[in-house]
Amino acid sequence: MRKLEAFIFDLDGVITDTAEYHYLAWKELAGELGIPFTREDNERLKGVSRLDSLEIILEIGSKQQAFTQEEKELLAKKKNTHYVDLIKQITPDDILPGIKTLLEDIKRAGIKIGLASASKNAPAVLKGLNLLEEFDYMADANLIAHGKPDPEIFLDVAENLKVKPENCIGIEDAKAGVQAIKRANMFAIGIGSTNLLREADIIYASTSELSFEKLTKEFC
Ligand code: BG6
Ligand code: MG
Repeated sequence: MRKLEAFIFDLDGVITDTAEYHYLAWKELAGELGIPFTREDNERLKGVSRLDSLEIILEIGSKQQAFTQEEKELLAKKKNTHYVDLIKQITPDDILPGIKTLLEDIKRAGIKIGLASASKNAPAVLKGLNLLEEFDYMADANLIAHGKPDPEIFLDVAENLKVKPENCIGIEDAKAGVQAIKRANMFAIGIGSTNLLREADIIYASTSELSFEKLTKEFC
């Protein structure tokens, strides 16, 4: 029988909703490049790395060939400077419903807590939320070679928490994230649309539906 050893969380869209800040920062850059960029387009960027997100935006504007790699890195840097400025307003009030209680209940049960976020800004976001201390291990996105849906980041967290992947529950809001959890041979909880996240073992519409009791029962 499986034995639950760790919960591994995505950050953006699971612990807090930073998608709007990413959207605002990308929107400004896209505007400067003369590329139309909508909230719907922004959905495609969830769970996707910074440079890959830029590629998607350039593709929308048919401008993928218009810049050298060096110029693309500068554009991504510009977006990030704006994003970093926007996330300065994050406070503990921005923790999504149900998450704080879930983290407390996991800790009380003596189960490990990890973070598998593709964001290089994860430590700054967690600091704003006052949640830095809650995690036993956080993956460093700078050191992960393959983005989600590759399982690398989830496997890195399991390894550093010294737990078996099959004894982990992963929680994600992005399709690529759910795929990464499944490829890592973990139990996947999806937050969002059933259509988009159908590869998850269980899907909830919102984080407010998450509870330690429910999740542990589903895992067993
Ligand atoms: C993910 C977000 O968590 O992090 C993506 O869902 C974002 O939208 C990615 O592009 C990388 O974030 P950052 O902060 O390193 O640019
Ligand atoms: Mg996410």
